Amino acid sequence: MNAEALKRESARRALEYVKPGMKLGLGTGSTAAHFVDLLAEKMRGGLSIVGVPTSEATRKQAEALGIPLTTLDETPELDLTVDGADELDSSLSLIKGGGGALLREKIVASASREMIVVADESKAVAALGRFPLPVEVVDFGLEATRRAIAAVSGASGCRGDLILRKKADGHVFVTDQGHVILDAHFGRIPDAAVLAKGLAQVPGVVEHGLFIGLATRAILAGAEGIRVIERS
Ligand code: A5P
Repeated sequence: MNAEALKRESARRALEYVKPGMKLGLGTGSTAAHFVDLLAEKMRGGLSIVGVPTSEATRKQAEALGIPLTTLDETPELDLTVDGADELDSSLSLIKGGGGALLREKIVASASREMIVVADESKAVAALGRFPLPVEVVDFGLEATRRAIAAVSGASGCRGDLILRKKADGHVFVTDQGHVILDAHFGRIPDAAVLAKGLAQVPGVVEHGLFIGLATRAILAGAEGIRVIERS
C-alpha cells in the first residue's frame, strides 16, 4: 500500500468512533482530508453529525461535500476531533502545524472531549523533533521574537535554525489567523513539556505545534495493518 492508501485506512478506522449526533472537530492536512471525505460518504448513508473545521481549507472541503458546519461560538464543546499529525511519540505527544493550521487545530482539539490522531506509521517516532516544530508568531517584532524563542529553546536543550516559513512562490506564508510561522529545526526535543512551557511565555508567540495531553488515541496504518495507541 502506498502512503495515501495507508492514510485513508487510518481515516476509515477513525470513522468507527463517530456516533450519530456527535459534534466533531475536523482536522487539516492530507490524512484529515481523507477522513472528511469518508465522513461525507457515511453521511450520505444516513449518519448525522455537525462539524467545526480547523482551517479554511477544511471548511471549503466540508462545505463542498455538504457536511453541516458550526463554530465554537455556537458549539463550544465538541465530542471528538479527528486530525493528522506530523510526528507523535508513544505518550501521544504530537508535533502539528506542517500545514500551518496549528492554532485553530489546538483550539478545536482543546474544546473536544477526545482527539483521535490519524496517520501512517511513518509519523510515529521515539523522540519528537526531527520534523521542524512550527511556532506561530505575530510579524511585529519578528527578529526580537525569534531571538527570545532561541533563548527559551536553548534553556530547554533545543538548538537549531528558526526559519521563517515561505510558500513555493517565495512569499511569506500567512496563517488563517494572519500570523507567520517560524519552523524550529531542533532535530531532537529532549523535553517537550519544558519547551512548550518556555515557548508559551514568549511575547509574540501566538501558539506552537507541540500538542501535549490532547490526543487520547492514535490510529496508525502501516504495512502490517492498523495499530491503535491509547493514552492511559
Ligand atoms: C496541519 O497544520 C497539520 O497539523 C497536519 O495535521 C499535519 O501536518 C499532518 O498532515 P498530513 O496528514 O498531510 O501529513
